[in-house]
Amino acid sequence: MKLFLDSADPKEIEALVATGLIDGVTTNPTLAAKTGLSFFDSLAAICKMVPGSVSAEVTAITANEMIAEGKKLTAIAPNITVKVPLTWDGLRACKTLSDAGHTVNVTLCFSPNQALLAAKAGATYISPFVGRLDDGGHDGMELIREIREIYDNYDFRTEILAASIRHATHVREAALAGADVATLPPSVFKALIHHPLTDKGLAAFLEDWKRGGQSIL
Ligand code: E4P
Repeated sequence: MKLFLDSADPKEIEALVATGLIDGVTTNPTLAAKTGLSFFDSLAAICKMVPGSVSAEVTAITANEMIAEGKKLTAIAPNITVKVPLTWDGLRACKTLSDAGHTVNVTLCFSPNQALLAAKAGATYISPFVGRLDDGGHDGMELIREIREIYDNYDFRTEILAASIRHATHVREAALAGADVATLPPSVFKALIHHPLTDKGLAAFLEDWKRGGQSIL
């Protein structure tokens, strides 16, 4: 499973790219506004530090304007993925941009039928929002499982990008459900490594080694 960071902050991303485990980045207008930085400058910086896909979201409503915005965004760097909303116009823009050879992430997916439409429109990624469904009392992970089944039934190549991830359990469940990608807030990525038995075990190993009085180097 690929791990993306859900952030528009180049500094925050740079620190975690150093782990060598980050496959891509997703941004959205809310995350971009939160940084207070120039949208284009931040995306250019992020695209330089991340080898994989960097999603940049359009803010237009009509298909033609989304396509124009998408083309402008793809000029930033070759690894920009245009992010469009799951509307009829968004799907039209998705089809046009993907037919032209661009990668497209269809976002704000909350149902299996929406995911089916996005795959038919040639989406590179579909972004089901797990956390927001959970917030509303639904089972967000069930959506991932159903999309996985539908895509496998028809051999759709669209990758399932589990989004709106809120905690480490979501990551484990998305991996078990067969999501191709999960996009994580930096705090969730950092939390993935923690286990108290790892810390306790390492402390004991080092203590025992010290008592032996030897050295490897
Ligand atoms: C995905 O691409 C979105 O940026 C993101 O995951 C939305 O998450 P939120 O529900 O925490 O805002």
